[in-house]
Amino acid sequence: MDFKSLALKYKTPLYVYDFGHIKEQFESVQKAFHARKSLICYAVKANSNLSILRYLGKLGAGCDCVSIGEIKRALIAGISKYKIVFSGVGKDDSEIAYALRQDILMLNVESEEELKRIEDIARYMGIKARISVRINPDIDAKTHPYISTGLKKNKFGVDIDTAKKLYIYSKKSEWLDPVGIHCHIGSQILDLKPYDEATKITAELLKSLKALDINIKFFDVGGGIGIRYKDEITIKPYEFAQTVLANLEGADVTVICEFGRFLVGNSGYLLTKVLYEKKNGKKRFVIVDAAMNDLIRPGFYDAYHAIEKIDKKDEKFSKADVVGPVCESSDFLGKDVLLPQLNYGDLLIVKSVGAYGFSMSSNYNTRPRCAEVAFTENRYRLIRKRETFENLIECETECLVRGNL
Ligand code: LLP
Repeated sequence: MDFKSLALKYKTPLYVYDFGHIKEQFESVQKAFHARKSLICYAVKANSNLSILRYLGKLGAGCDCVSIGEIKRALIAGISKYKIVFSGVGKDDSEIAYALRQDILMLNVESEEELKRIEDIARYMGIKARISVRINPDIDAKTHPYISTGLKKNKFGVDIDTAKKLYIYSKKSEWLDPVGIHCHIGSQILDLKPYDEATKITAELLKSLKALDINIKFFDVGGGIGIRYKDEITIKPYEFAQTVLANLEGADVTVICEFGRFLVGNSGYLLTKVLYEKKNGKKRFVIVDAAMNDLIRPGFYDAYHAIEKIDKKDEKFSKADVVGPVCESSDFLGKDVLLPQLNYGDLLIVKSVGAYGFSMSSNYNTRPRCAEVAFTENRYRLIRKRETFENLIECETECLVRGNL
């Protein structure tokens, strides 16, 4: 793709996604699970752009949602309601009622308190709620602590004994239908072992539930497989599927996986324009027009994203921190990045930003969020307009009064 023309046409900073790559990633997961009944529920939080949801939906994906907003997005994008699962530790009453009314596939329950709340709301609505219980297997996924979710010290899910209790309770309830079992241990996982351990524990529970005549139909293994940002050795979907399925021999279940990053992460690029070069003593800074509000991963998780100059030539390179205009020292896109001497208007490309890039962006410093463009081969399309200043203040202008409060 001619990134330079896109930057000229749509201005910078600009998110650009390679839909062909998303398709390849999706199909590799589909292929890995093809011998089993399976459903790939794309984790909407990774990148919730409607055109991405629609594109994945057409390929056959369902959606893993964590808010009413994400469910609404999935439905608007044309995802079948029976392919939507709803996770999250803090679903409020209106979200639960909405999900039940929409008749989505299942609600992934994260506590006893939540299960009782769902039961109450289902009773009030005269609906039987399809649920699954999220297991916290107390397993270390060996990833960044902020994105590890399967340890006891994390807020997610319930332990095996509590889960069993909740299933027995649900089975007896007139308003609950326990159809699934769920486990998600973290994100950017590069090792199969924690998946093996987690699915073993969950599969054991599945068996013991069967002995109690609780027949689970959906085995949701969560998401989390990592991608290559720099030089990571990643898990192949085929290996992931083999590991999961080896623990499910003889079980008649539909396997659900909730990949986000794997499907969209490496498809995304952030184009940004150089504003200034600056030196503080010996330290070299390249100041660009994208900032932490556009891509927070480096500042928040110390995450690495490769950064290169577009139209790279054989120039002399030296190390520089690539920073944005926001007033925080954590406003950086890369540290010690090898770059040639740069001038105003030169374009840089930040790689692997398709997941948790735009979706975590904000309006900090009253900066409108970027436009987004999709391409396949040499065709491209705007999939989100750049926000305007007016968009940013519209919720406040009506409330603005002259004089004192
Ligand atoms: N399912 C559940 C219940 C989740 O909480 C998540 C991610 C996923 C699936 C998808 O995980 P993935 O396949 O994308 O790894 N903002 C962080 C990542 C947070 C992940 C939160 N949960 C980052 O930028 O690295």
